[in-house]
Amino acid sequence: MKICFIGTGYVGLVSGVCFSDLGNSVICIDKDREKLTQLENGDIPIFEPGLSELVRKNLDAGRLSFSDDLIGSIKKSDIVFIAVGTPTAKDGVSADLSQVFTVAKLISKRIKSHKIIVTKSTVPIGTGDKIEKILNKNKKKGLFTIISNPEFLREGEAIKDFKYPDRVVIGTNDKRVIKIFNELYRPIINKGAAFVSCSRRAAELIKYASNAFLATKISFINEIANLCEKVHVNIDDVSVGIGLDKRIGSRFLRAGPAYGGSCFPKDTKALAKVGKNYNSPLSIVNSVINFNEKRKKDIENNIYKILHNKIKNKIICFLGVTFKANTDDLRDSSAINLISKFVKKGAKINYYEPTGSKEILDKHKNVKYFDDLYLAVKKVDLIIIHTEWDEFKNLNFSKIKNNDKKVIIYDLRNLYDNRSFINKNNISYYSIGRPFNA
Ligand code: UDX
Repeated sequence: MKICFIGTGYVGLVSGVCFSDLGNSVICIDKDREKLTQLENGDIPIFEPGLSELVRKNLDAGRLSFSDDLIGSIKKSDIVFIAVGTPTAKDGVSADLSQVFTVAKLISKRIKSHKIIVTKSTVPIGTGDKIEKILNKNKKKGLFTIISNPEFLREGEAIKDFKYPDRVVIGTNDKRVIKIFNELYRPIINKGAAFVSCSRRAAELIKYASNAFLATKISFINEIANLCEKVHVNIDDVSVGIGLDKRIGSRFLRAGPAYGGSCFPKDTKALAKVGKNYNSPLSIVNSVINFNEKRKKDIENNIYKILHNKIKNKIICFLGVTFKANTDDLRDSSAINLISKFVKKGAKINYYEPTGSKEILDKHKNVKYFDDLYLAVKKVDLIIIHTEWDEFKNLNFSKIKNNDKKVIIYDLRNLYDNRSFINKNNISYYSIGRPFNA
């Protein structure tokens, strides 16, 4: 099929490239010429395992191309995916849909033949209706079919999530389009993905409700982890014990710092705002948003406790600063929040990050990036394992030993068993949801 993707951000680029890999002819459109040139050479502006190989493979096969010609590319395509950004608006809660509507207006003025217009971007309930209104304004009714096809891609796992999703959700009542999408996703459905066809509004809500539910699961286990620290129970035992109940499920039950990233914080807030707008307050979602804010404070306070409230001039080393492993994304990463708090209190920060130094951190005077993990942790007062990168799972503790100072580690991802060898290395080891004796 002939497809185009408007927007080569995370979602547009991954989805476009994966559709080309399934044998479709795909044009990925963006305004940024420099970025397109980079992509045409197979250079990927984001860190996503396997993506650059897939781009090169499909460029070479002639199935994938990049363009800044929006209208020309749409004219050549049967299906147009809108995958532009929907960041949090100026009010701090709603989704900013200006980029989506700008695209819809351009299509409405210039396209004269039938196209299926698909929202891939995460958009609030009813956005498809608004796009339809814009598109039908200058044209005869029915020229465009507007559908919702939300994505559920995790950063760092996006290619796998695209090729082996649990489900594909198509929001439209148009039977002909349902059939076309069933064909488009056939290779994925054949591998076991469920095909869910529902109304457009339901598809829009499914995306928000999924992210809000996952954020709820994480916040729930984080709150139980707080209790574990008080009642001398290991949270890992609880996660396993409840996760084995198939009604609950074991995934997204890893306790840790406040959840972050480009989706959960933004989407929970946007969903709560939709609830408020429709006079149907979402009290659970609101609690999750508030709890996640409190989570940041709880972790910060734990660190003060570990350092006996003496922060000034202390050297704190962060292992990993991204919001999770296998991404270079810092959006809403709890490390950024913690580092700025500690710097204000006069601490010095070292950080080691597998995806390299970060501009936003390096602008602080007392923050220093190391490209060598063992140099970063040398003679520091506290090591915080912030992100669950594989390379932090097998640290060489004999190389971390400080001659004069005791090594203190606060592991926010429970990468080690607190009962075993850590203590043998004369290391004070603190973790999440395990008896906290600082
Ligand atoms: C998420 C959704 O999973 C994906 O379906 C959606 O489309 C985009 O948003 P992503 O933000 O890439 O994906 O990361 P995810 O793996 O979901 O993690 C989000 C946050 O939750 C991270 O901060 C992560 O550290 C945290 N998390 C996740 C936990 O703290 N515990 C867990 O068990 C799982």
